[in-house]
Amino acid sequence: MHLPELTDAEASLLGEMRGRLIAQIESAGGALPFDLYMETALYSPGLGYYVNGRRKFGEAGDFVTAPEVSPLFSRCLARQVAECLLNLGGGSVLEVGAGSGRMATDMLSELEMLDALPERYQILELSPSLRQAQFDTLSHGVPHLLPRVVWLTEMPSAGFRGVLVGNELLDAMPVHRFRRVEGTWQELAVAVKGRTFCDRWKPLQSPGLAEALEKLWPDATGVIEGYSSELNMRLAPWLKAVAASLDAGYIILIDYGFAQREYYHAERSLGTLICHFRHRAYADPYLLPGLQDMTANVDFTALAQAAVALGFELSGYTTQAHFLIDSGLEQMLSTSDPNDLKRHLSMMQGVKKLTLPGEMGERFKVMALARGARAALSGFRSRDMRERL
Ligand SMILES: C[S@@+](CC[C@H](N)C(=O)[O-])C[C@H]1O[C@@H](n2cnc3c(N)ncnc32)[C@H](O)[C@@H]1O
Repeated sequence: MHLPELTDAEASLLGEMRGRLIAQIESAGGALPFDLYMETALYSPGLGYYVNGRRKFGEAGDFVTAPEVSPLFSRCLARQVAECLLNLGGGSVLEVGAGSGRMATDMLSELEMLDALPERYQILELSPSLRQAQFDTLSHGVPHLLPRVVWLTEMPSAGFRGVLVGNELLDAMPVHRFRRVEGTWQELAVAVKGRTFCDRWKPLQSPGLAEALEKLWPDATGVIEGYSSELNMRLAPWLKAVAASLDAGYIILIDYGFAQREYYHAERSLGTLICHFRHRAYADPYLLPGLQDMTANVDFTALAQAAVALGFELSGYTTQAHFLIDSGLEQMLSTSDPNDLKRHLSMMQGVKKLTLPGEMGERFKVMALARGARAALSGFRSRDMRERL
């Protein structure tokens, strides 16, 4: 694969990240569980992909997320959030992992238009450079609403009432990788090879991984030789922390993923881990640590099970296309003036990308969870896929 040449700054960042990973692997005895490799590559202070100041989102970055495709995405989500706040009789919004701040800006301006502004718009962001980017976007787009915006570095302590939203948040969590070989499970660790990295398959060692695989495959005799995939063991602890801080309200998560049956289907025998660098997508996680995004699809069944165990009701699970349509997309489109050709075409293009099955429309799903609040939500009116989970 041909990758664009690295700038000097990128080459230096890559060198530093490799040095940090090599030291971490050596101090772990020569092999580091894959989730820890991924955690360092994405989140290590100062250098990790989501922490260093390199541009990631949009055309000039590595990938494009839905809020960057079109403001209609965030405006539709805002409408669903407005309904949630109405059900709750008020409350705040908490956005986790807010990227460039585009979604916060467009949601706030739509919520203002709907006369449904939240008490606070809280942003939980781990990256100082992204916090700055978010501040800049919001200052430019909705300066008068900035006093409502609060940045957090951890989940609020108990007592949050409102709506938590996260777009492409869960896919950015570090995962374990595993495979089936000669009738046993193995997990992937990362070893050093020169100045780069290689696979080192080992018997299961990470706490909880054997139990998690046993739950997925109580009888693993039918699993094909060489089958491999990944598992997000951080999802349930993350949700538990959210549950501890949420007094009453909703969680709305949008991400690419499947129900468990589809995720771990025998035909998807190499898992879903993928890397992005300047709009190239590839499978090698060792190529550009610190410069490339690494992401895995979301197991929405696991999310729903963890949520129900924590006392949430499943409000709905549907495709992004259906969610946006049920949240007012068509109505927004109908207000676009076809005589204002440039604006109209750009709007149509955004809608296509967000909703067509071959684009983001079906690959991306939306799941909403409710606790202490009315579960039924209009975003899931026309296509409820909960029975698939
Ligand atoms: C793929 S980006 C999506 C950004 C943005 N939501 C968008 O749609 O453009 C994933 C974001 O999730 C954040 N993230 C991942 N795990 C997190 C966690 N446990 N707490 C807070 N943020 C997290 C990352 O730092 C990153 O900003």
